[in-house]
Amino acid sequence: MGNTRRILTGITTTGTPHLGNYVGAIRPAIAASRNAGVESFYFLADYHALVKCDEPARIRQSTLEIAASWLACGLDPEKVYFYRQSDIPEIPELTWLLTCVTAKGLLNRAHAYKAATDDNRGKGDDPDAGINAGLYMYPVLMAADILIFHANQVPVGRDQIQHIEMARDIGQRFNHLYGGEFFTLPEAAIEENVATLPGLDGRKMSKSYDNTIPLWLPEKDLRKAILGIVTNSQAPGEPKDPEESHLFSIYRAFASTDETIAMRKAYASGIGWGDAKQQLFERINRELAPLRERYEALIAKPAQIEDALLVGAERARELSRPLLARLRQAVGLRSLRDDPGASVDAKETRADKPALQPVVFRDADGFAFKVLDGKRDVLATQGGFVDPKTAMAAARAAMVVLAGESAAP
Ligand code: TRP
Repeated sequence: MGNTRRILTGITTTGTPHLGNYVGAIRPAIAASRNAGVESFYFLADYHALVKCDEPARIRQSTLEIAASWLACGLDPEKVYFYRQSDIPEIPELTWLLTCVTAKGLLNRAHAYKAATDDNRGKGDDPDAGINAGLYMYPVLMAADILIFHANQVPVGRDQIQHIEMARDIGQRFNHLYGGEFFTLPEAAIEENVATLPGLDGRKMSKSYDNTIPLWLPEKDLRKAILGIVTNSQAPGEPKDPEESHLFSIYRAFASTDETIAMRKAYASGIGWGDAKQQLFERINRELAPLRERYEALIAKPAQIEDALLVGAERARELSRPLLARLRQAVGLRSLRDDPGASVDAKETRADKPALQPVVFRDADGFAFKVLDGKRDVLATQGGFVDPKTAMAAARAAMVVLAGESAAP
């Protein structure tokens, strides 16, 4: 336990997943979550979505599509922590504690905020015109996301490196100010080997360029989209340079080494663009077809996805609740019953596993709980609860009883 690495990343719930998200984020993250010695935290950053989107229906739809996509691509919600940010009330609570130790000047220097104010200045407007305070506070909310689960590594794109550095700064400042190792300081993990896909126009595939191919297009539409990728005007029979071709870059992101070598040869011997596109379509579709089938089944049952997210949140809150209790003590949000002279920092660390552990899961009758001991033996179990919250509350009650029994002479 002491040397498991914690990997955490958030996905903002504003859009529809596209091929670039699949190759650049979903697929590598799921592969990484299967490595030994890691604990993965993947979450839907829906509070962050509110900073740039005021369309409720879109947030809901995007949450559903992103959650279904990760599950369809093989994320195992029992092995990783998979949850929705807004289901963890300790995150906004921590955000406030962090806000109060964050230098305002640090936030003034955040790239996204600076870009927005520079833009306004360029237009001769008030620097803060049209900028909401959510954009300004974005880095603090993100720091809370990361620090609350003691993440060691945060896989992100280059544009997010500054945010991870700010999370380190803020966490370090809190640790220093309140004199404890409350937070693990995270590092950005930039995957050098992961492909960034070119989009339809050859620039990086990105929602902001409007050049994406949605991940879950029906087969026919996927084929049509691929036929629309730009190529040069070389004729069939002319040898082509794979390194100059967007089609080839995309092909390589899906193909095995052998397939890539074969395709290189085909380019050298003058494969026509129409042919190359057809082969690209077939290769992508071979990988996506079975996942697409799972996605369609999942998206047809939003209630099941909701349940999986609620169970995920309950598991995650087993970690966030005790941390918040400790932080409240540390900053002085304390019960007046307690002796003011008492030492507050009973240094618990993430290595200390509680002797008893509640687990909530779904079964045929709704939700159920188990209470496990340190050896993962089941000490108590009960089913028939309507939602994960009630099941967790019952598990906690059972734990109190069990703890009393074990303390009895
Ligand atoms: N800001 C990230 C992005 O735009 C999303 C995000 C929110 C995130 N909270 C996070 C990423 C915490 C990593 C860790 O991509």
